[in-house]
Amino acid sequence: MSPNDKNPTYEKIMPAVPANLNLASKYLLQGKLVSFPTETVYGLGADATNDQAVARIFAAKQRPDFNPLIIHLSSLAEAEKYVEFDMISRRMAEAFWPGPFTLVLKKKPGSILSPLVSAGLDTVAVRVPEHPVITGLLQLFKYPIAAPSANISGKLSPTRPEHVAETLSAKVAMILEGPPCRNGIESTIAQVVGSEIRILRPGSITKGKIEELTGLRVTYYEDGENPAAPGQLKSHYAPNKKIRLNAVTLYPGEALLAFGSFYPKDVQILKNLSTKGSLLEAASNLFSMLHELDNTDCTAIAVSPIPNKAIGIAINDRLTRAAAIPEVNNDD
Ligand code: TXA
Ligand code: MG
Repeated sequence: MSPNDKNPTYEKIMPAVPANLNLASKYLLQGKLVSFPTETVYGLGADATNDQAVARIFAAKQRPDFNPLIIHLSSLAEAEKYVEFDMISRRMAEAFWPGPFTLVLKKKPGSILSPLVSAGLDTVAVRVPEHPVITGLLQLFKYPIAAPSANISGKLSPTRPEHVAETLSAKVAMILEGPPCRNGIESTIAQVVGSEIRILRPGSITKGKIEELTGLRVTYYEDGENPAAPGQLKSHYAPNKKIRLNAVTLYPGEALLAFGSFYPKDVQILKNLSTKGSLLEAASNLFSMLHELDNTDCTAIAVSPIPNKAIGIAINDRLTRAAAIPEVNNDD
């Protein structure tokens, strides 16, 4: 399917020009949902202070209500109205914001945020994004915007407006189209616990960058029983087709998601995350190429080995969850 003005599936997609940003801000004020690009993936946004609006996000995504949302703010100063910063978190916020980095922090008492945002926890996940469309919207709207990735729970994240339109068109007032989602995978989520920093979800701000900045112990934190970030759930980010990882040969009918220049050359359906072997480029292509391969008539998607270092760790994290077999109630 290709986007087409006359195709009703795509009629909510609007260019992110000032008039449409103003309209989007009005829709948010009315409690409606708006989708917009960020530097990571497309978000499904609502007024984070409006219970009904936030409830609409959970309904639209079919997201379990125990899974909290990230709120998006225009600056560190704005974030301080809603959450308490310890010294280490502040240091990271100053270094990594605006950008693809989320901090889980203690909620301030008397917060005007809808309690649904944090799903009953006493913490809130906050992020100051840097993409011009969400930044522009935050300037106009002035309140925090709650926004998960704009996909049905557990499915592939969207990096193009058409991905959003194809599944959520009926649920949103508008889908803003803007410059590409440069990072292509969701923000790193971190939480300071004592003098340790836990990465709840790996992303473009890597463990190495956090260690370098803080000089502290940084760990990948995963509690299988009680996921602190349900993006950690075993099956997640899943296409409809089966995924086979670390493929060096191909089975008949499989499509290949390659990385670098060494891969089986007898392949019929091929996408290459980065022919030059750049992990940054691979991350930015990951979800859009999975979407494309998912829409072919391949029997399964084989994926070349991806080096497990730097952003490759976040890529392998998403791929492993995409390849996992879903369990009941097991999504975001
Ligand atoms: O890049 C991103 O972060 C994108 C864009 C749209 O900003 N958003 C995103 O949101 O990925 P979502 O809802 O798909 O993922 C949010 C993750 C979930 O895994 C959720 O469990 C976790 O953040 N989370 C939210 N609040 C939390 C909290 N208080 N404690 C621990 N994890 C939390
Ligand atoms: Mg998500």
